[in-house]
Amino acid sequence: MVLNIGVIGAGLIGRDHIRRVTDDLPGARVSAVADVDLDRAKSVAAGLPAAKPLPTGLDVIADDDVDAVLVTSWGPTHEEYVLAAIAEGKQVFCEKPLATTREACERIIDAEVAAGKRLVMVGYMRRYDPAYRALKAAVTAGEIGAPLMFHSVHRNPAVPPHYSSNMIINDTCAHDVDITRFLLESEVAAVRVLTPARRNRRDPEHLTEAMLVLEMANGVLVDVEASINIAYGYDIRGEIVGETGTVSLGEATPTVLRRDGGYRGQVPANWQDRFRSAYDAEFRAWIAAASRGESTGPSTWDGYATTVVCETGLAAWRTGDRVEASLRDKPGLYGDPVTPASHE
Ligand SMILES: NC(=O)c1ccc[n+]([C@@H]2O[C@H](COP(=O)([O-])OP(=O)(O)OC[C@H]3O[C@@H](n4cnc5c(N)ncnc54)[C@H](O)[C@@H]3O)[C@@H](O)[C@H]2O)c1
Repeated sequence: MVLNIGVIGAGLIGRDHIRRVTDDLPGARVSAVADVDLDRAKSVAAGLPAAKPLPTGLDVIADDDVDAVLVTSWGPTHEEYVLAAIAEGKQVFCEKPLATTREACERIIDAEVAAGKRLVMVGYMRRYDPAYRALKAAVTAGEIGAPLMFHSVHRNPAVPPHYSSNMIINDTCAHDVDITRFLLESEVAAVRVLTPARRNRRDPEHLTEAMLVLEMANGVLVDVEASINIAYGYDIRGEIVGETGTVSLGEATPTVLRRDGGYRGQVPANWQDRFRSAYDAEFRAWIAAASRGESTGPSTWDGYATTVVCETGLAAWRTGDRVEASLRDKPGLYGDPVTPASHE
């Protein structure tokens, strides 16, 4: 069976996923494309073997030639499309965020629970990155004893002009929050946000450096350094400190050159380079599951929990206080009531 995917939002990552489905991965093809910019939808569809442009995202979801839906439009539009896909009974892959507010995520939880089955996968692709998986496997195997602390570093060379100060927390750090929950198998209980008194002269108007301190419900302490204007490259680091050792992500350089008494590697230029294999693996997993009529990977609950933690982080930043993150009761559809699923 070939899974027919309808795409809503043919922007940067939408087109990247379309290329992935069309050129790189077996088992699926793009059958419909919509974008608020209809000309963009038409030109993207024209370059594909079996896709038609449709006027709106809701037309994509309702179309008989669409088995499963890919939502890659702007964050505030995700709720409407995810709810419509659930109502249609179609599997949906929604790029992060699941939705931009706690309330919107809760409406999606309610709809999916009423549908009685998981239909939503959220695009937190770091869970599929081989290096993060190896990190988690080392902890699970007991290599460092029980984890006590986690250092997470998220550095971007630059961000686009529309990137507001809030986005360092609810867009950049969202990935760190999700991977922290995945690695440590615990929810975030409280958040503090510290920012340097000295502003980056490359963009003094915006907050481009922040440190989040996350207290996990299982007692592990986490710091997240986000530096989103650091010029030198896209650098993702992580180290878990345990009772008897530590385990960290390796360097992401493909080669190391040694000469003249020194050595030199490469830092990835951007997130597309760093996480290419993670995006491929998450899509392989989604295509396989959706073809069976199932969902997998980061769930609606995971999307909700991360949105709540980011909202909590924004409150902590504004007030300068330690703010507790409160989640509603976890429906049985999403597994263990306390621990975030360690799945797939
Ligand atoms: N997982 C990741 O690492 C990752 C990376 C990049 C982007 N994203 C997420 O993907 C989403 C899209 O990001 P992007 O960088 O591709 O943005 P983008 O602006 O390049 O593309 C978004 C596209 O959606 C279209 N669009 C907007 N509203 C729409 C609507 N109501 N219906 C149909 N189309 C609509 C826009 O015209 C645009 O073509 C965001 O939620 C972003 O956070 C995730």
